[in-house]
Amino acid sequence: MTTTRHTTVVIFGASGDLTNRKLIPALYNLYLKHRLPEKFSVVGVARSPFSHEDFRSKVEEGVKEFSAATYNQKKWAKFAESIYYHAGDSTKLEDVHDLHKFLNDLEDNKANRLYYLSTAPALYIPTAENLGITEMADERNGWRRLIVEKPFGIDLESAQQLNWALHKVFKEEQVYRIDHYLGKETAQNILFLRFANTILEPVWNRNYVDHVQITVAETVDVGHRAGYYDQSGVVRDMFQNHLLQLLALVTKEPPSSLDADALRNEKTKVFAAIPPISLKDTVRAQYEGYCGTEGVAPNSQTPTFAALKLYVNNWRWEGVPFYLRSGKAMAAKTSEINVVFRRPPLSMFETAADDDAGFTNNVLSIRIQPNEGASLRFEAKMPDSHLTRSVVMEFDYATAFGECLIPDAYERLLHDALNGDATLFTRSDNIEHAWKIIDPVLHGWETSPKAPPLMTYPVGSWGPKEADELMGRGRVWLHLNGNTVGEK
Ligand code: BG6
Repeated sequence: MTTTRHTTVVIFGASGDLTNRKLIPALYNLYLKHRLPEKFSVVGVARSPFSHEDFRSKVEEGVKEFSAATYNQKKWAKFAESIYYHAGDSTKLEDVHDLHKFLNDLEDNKANRLYYLSTAPALYIPTAENLGITEMADERNGWRRLIVEKPFGIDLESAQQLNWALHKVFKEEQVYRIDHYLGKETAQNILFLRFANTILEPVWNRNYVDHVQITVAETVDVGHRAGYYDQSGVVRDMFQNHLLQLLALVTKEPPSSLDADALRNEKTKVFAAIPPISLKDTVRAQYEGYCGTEGVAPNSQTPTFAALKLYVNNWRWEGVPFYLRSGKAMAAKTSEINVVFRRPPLSMFETAADDDAGFTNNVLSIRIQPNEGASLRFEAKMPDSHLTRSVVMEFDYATAFGECLIPDAYERLLHDALNGDATLFTRSDNIEHAWKIIDPVLHGWETSPKAPPLMTYPVGSWGPKEADELMGRGRVWLHLNGNTVGEK
């Protein structure tokens, strides 16, 4: 990064929640760590009329609440001097011209700019078009980059249209599509775990892995986001992006280098190897009471929980089932990946396991959040008996690295975008491949007589029993976060 050059982060949709909860706290923390360019400004843009001072006070509240551990009044006051607000509608050309003038007056002659699209998705294309018409994407006087928040389209076609519209104004190298799961330390650690060690990779394949489970469960319900969520549902909200990204990290081949494109090429290859998901391998459900939520259609068919079984048909993974599930209003908040290894060829010992399945597979459990860490479950002889029982070998971030070392995902992602590192951002072909996997499921649910019925599940549960039945063959969903073995 040219630190001597003025750099401006322009947030479109700055009056929204994300600015308060994530973006400003992340920039403030980067400031505290001296990771921002020397000459730096943040300009919030939205339609509501705020003065610079009003906007600073509003976002200060966000930092106090969402970054309480690092909030310091004096340091904040210094950082806040670099924050500005400009009222305007980014879909109106004259407003974007005004913004351009405001930025030119604020910056030195040559400045870099990072535009952040945090508006309603319907505004992405008109905003990008106006940035094009006003030559605000032009890089003659400094780099111009564009971060695009999710959701990136609602299906393959809309994602392609969005890519196409963005590419009319920005080159692919200028576009940074956010999936905040990729910014999580623990998600990044998956590649370290796999490729910085020698012990895992030899068994990381169909010869040793029985199946893989990816769970992203939340206890919160849809809350005040019902308007968005009822249109979207859990598959668009969580699977098309976060769960498939985690799947890619677990399954992809080692890249030829750590270069952003080398890493993202491997992702595309893995997505391309996923055959169409059979509707009988899908479960959809809604938590009880969802339809009574304000903003939700009274007879809504939107799933708030889904479970899918899919395969990755390549040399490494042929025949290994991957089970993915996610839902709101569930029993626990946990994002975890459980790699379940095959049992030994011969069972020589009796097990003391008290669960029905007599489950004795070795399991590598990667805890994305909370209790960030990983554990390996293996069998040991129970003292003073002939029985074998599962025991757990633990790695936990807080113990190994100290409590405060895990930065928020947005901090890492904003820092990378400022540095021009697109490794943790989704390339256009990655996004389109992900939609190719998801689209037929959504389409099938809407139109096919073979679609599974929409089930319901009690708030605070692990979802409908159909999700357990999906596992089949003595397999059970594991919830190893917090060392609870099994969910029963
Ligand atoms: C967002 C979804 O992308 O991820 C939300 O839109 C969800 O519905 C959130 O709650 C989960 O993120 P995290 O980091 O809390 O697991």
